[in-house]
Parts: sequence; C-alpha cells; structure tokens
Amino acid sequence: MLPGGLIDLLKDATEVVALTGAGVSAESGVPTFRDAQTGLWSRYRAEDLATPAAFQRDPALVWNWYAWRRSLVEGVKPNPAHLALATLEQRLPGFHLITQNVDGLHFRAGSRKVLALHGDLFLTLCSAEKTPVETWRDDGEAPPRCPRCDAPLRPGVVWFGETLPQDVLSKVLALSAVSQVFLSIGTSALVQPAASLARMAYESGAVVVEINPEATPLSDIAHFVLRGPAGEIIPALLEIAWPAG
Ligand code: OAD
Repeated sequence: MLPGGLIDLLKDATEVVALTGAGVSAESGVPTFRDAQTGLWSRYRAEDLATPAAFQRDPALVWNWYAWRRSLVEGVKPNPAHLALATLEQRLPGFHLITQNVDGLHFRAGSRKVLALHGDLFLTLCSAEKTPVETWRDDGEAPPRCPRCDAPLRPGVVWFGETLPQDVLSKVLALSAVSQVFLSIGTSALVQPAASLARMAYESGAVVVEINPEATPLSDIAHFVLRGPAGEIIPALLEIAWPAG
C-alpha cells in the first residue's frame, strides 16, 4: 500500500528530483554493480576494472570488459521502472532525472532530460585528448587507437578516482538543493558524490523517498521508505497519482 500523503506531495511539488542507480536496471537483467559478475568476468571485481590504474596496467582487459558490458546492455530492454520514470517526466514539468547508470536505458525508455553522472557506456573517448571519437579503424586491436593522435581509445564513463564532469555536477547539486521531493531509487547510496545528493536535499528541506528492496545508509533519514522492486513501485505510484482512463 503506497502512502497517499506521498502522492499528494509529488503532484503538488514544483521541483522533483529522482536519482537512480544500478537497481533500476536490475529488472531488465543488467546485474547491479556490486552483484557478482558472471561468466568470463566472474574472477574480477568491478571495482578493480573501473579505474584509470587498471586501464594503464591492462588496457585490453578493461576495453574488453566494457565491450562485454555493452553487448549485455544491447540485449536487454527498459523495464517498467524506466518507462514509469519517462512518464513522470511528462506529467511533472519540474521533474529532473539524475542517473549513476551508464547503460542508456532511461533514454531508450523515453526520458529526455537525463543527467548522467557517470557517463555513457556507448560513448568512446580518446584517452589522451578526452574528446569523443565516433569512428576508428577496427583491425582487432583492443583498445583501438584514436584516428587523430594514435592514443588508445577508452569508454566515456567516469572511473573510480576520476572527477565528475563539472557542468553536470554543478547542475545536480543545484537541483538537489532546491528539490521539494527527492526520490532515491535502486542505489546503494555508497558512492560519492551521488550518495550525498539525497542528504543535501534532506538538509535543504526536501521530502526524501527511498525505493529499494533493501536498506541503505539513506534509509534512516528517508521520510518514506518503499521496500520493493522499482519496476513494481514506480508504476504503482503513477497509477495511483494519475489513474488510467
Ligand atoms: P549498487 O550495485 O551499489 O546498488 C544497487 C542497489 O539496487 C542496491 O541497494 C540494491 O538493493 C538495489 N536493487 C536491486 N534490485 C532492485 C530493484 N529491482 N529495484 C530497486 N532497487 C534494487 O549500484 P549503485 O548504487 O548504482 O559507479 O552504485 C553506484 C555506483 O557505484 C555505480 O554507478 C558505479 C559503482 O561504483 C561508477 O562506475 C563510477
């Protein structure tokens, strides 16, 4: 049963922020970041592959891991949680979606105002120039080389130890500070600075809502804790707020 008070708050708010994490893609079949890796990659920890040091040590390993993650995401579809969040964007003019996910599933579900904190799995950058590269010579080398300067190419994601894009960071900080309702969805709320956004919203007076089947460090301060899968809870929220027909 979803709390009616929350529905009213959501419908009346002029600034609503949703922050999503890997849990929102779990029901699409994308393993969450901290879940055991599968197949060939099960002997590696994600935290040991997603770093600049790992790329320096073994660029082919890191490149191939991202190629595997891309193929995994290409084979799945957005789930009801992604679709419901895209609908929320249409219903609420002051709705902003911030994601830590790099899988592009929010965009594929129809969300257009997505602030991707950790980059994009399908973007490729020159590792030296840090600029996007769209085409390159594919002679089987991993990673391939930048057609301009010959440096190795890298995925356009933010690795552990790297700083977030400054423009995106300033936007999400400002949005969190003025939000009236802050939804934290499918994130373990462990990785900074994403994890601090909900706290900042809370301290600025926002109503904080957690949607997650499990407890997180945010659970204690959240005003509403909705325990369960995002793919069931967010569509149910929408259905109560704007009944079909
Ligand atoms: P995690 O893998 O740390 O956490 C996933 C969260 O989703 C957990 O709290 C689960 O309980 C929850 N969850 C699982 N299934 C769910 C479902 N069906 N509905 C809702 N929630 C569900 O992923 P993140 O919090 O996204 O960063 O991790 C944050 C960042 O850590 C990632 O973006 C990545 C990683 O380091 C970088 O790569 C820079």
